[in-house]
Amino acid sequence: MYKRKDLLGLRELSADEIMTILNTAREMKAKIDDPSLRDKSLEKSSIVTLFYENSTRTKMSFMLAGEYQGAIVKDLGVATSSVSKGESLIDTGVTLDQMGTNVMIIRHQLTGAAHILAKNVKASVINAGDGSNEHPTQALLDLYTIMERKGGFEGLKVVILGDISHSRVARSNAFGLTKLGAKVTLAGPSTLVSNSMQSLGVQVSTDIPSAIRDADVVMGLRIQFERQRNMPFPNLREYSSLFGVNSDMLKYAKKDVLVMHPGPVNRGVELSTDVIDGKNSVITVQVKNGVAVRMAILKLLTENNSKI
Ligand code: CP
Repeated sequence: MYKRKDLLGLRELSADEIMTILNTAREMKAKIDDPSLRDKSLEKSSIVTLFYENSTRTKMSFMLAGEYQGAIVKDLGVATSSVSKGESLIDTGVTLDQMGTNVMIIRHQLTGAAHILAKNVKASVINAGDGSNEHPTQALLDLYTIMERKGGFEGLKVVILGDISHSRVARSNAFGLTKLGAKVTLAGPSTLVSNSMQSLGVQVSTDIPSAIRDADVVMGLRIQFERQRNMPFPNLREYSSLFGVNSDMLKYAKKDVLVMHPGPVNRGVELSTDVIDGKNSVITVQVKNGVAVRMAILKLLTENNSKI
């Protein structure tokens, strides 16, 4: 069951709540390719996206997920809004609330921004990424993709590689995967992964071949240069040769390993092009599953908020 007004992070969700979202997404997926299966169940709902940071996948898939279910969907266009005149996040949210918005989807550079918004508006709030904290809908689509391909989570070895310390995707996936019974390793250079992350219930490694050995899932992450104060390694060529995954490195994993990446990918840095486009890659499947998962989240939240 999922009975919350908002979706702010996977840290606070139970395994049962996560599975409710994944099982609802399964019902949604066929509607992406077959418009005759779509209904207008959200035609009485209005959805606004507020993206204070750039996005292609998350914003577009939420907008399409709303429209595929008949909702009114608008993007605030933060750069051209009154945010540029200094309007606060809360005042912006209250203003949109008064206009009858039912769901606000926010991406913001500050940890906790979605939580602040949720406390101050009647609308349901979805966290589309807050600083380096959480990106719950990305993790949910990653979980859905793993469930679809592997049939479940119990005992799976999932290795998440790259810029772990700045990654809200790694944190949300660590919360979700451990709750569902997977064994998670976070791996990267010591400047980008800290032993303190073991408190998330995961293993931490700086040795990529040993981290990848017998992995069921290898998930690459982008180096987030926009969040770095100093260059965390001498140069990209050195990073990709020591910490990137190419087809030789992938041989340490199981033969049927899933190669994943939330996108956007820096080709040739965290993953080589032959791995990105290879037979084990499900990166484009993740994108499609993102629409299904976001359709499910919008459906569950609008059902709940009409009863709250
Ligand atoms: N994975 C992800 O959040 O991509 P976007 O930044 O394109 O939304």
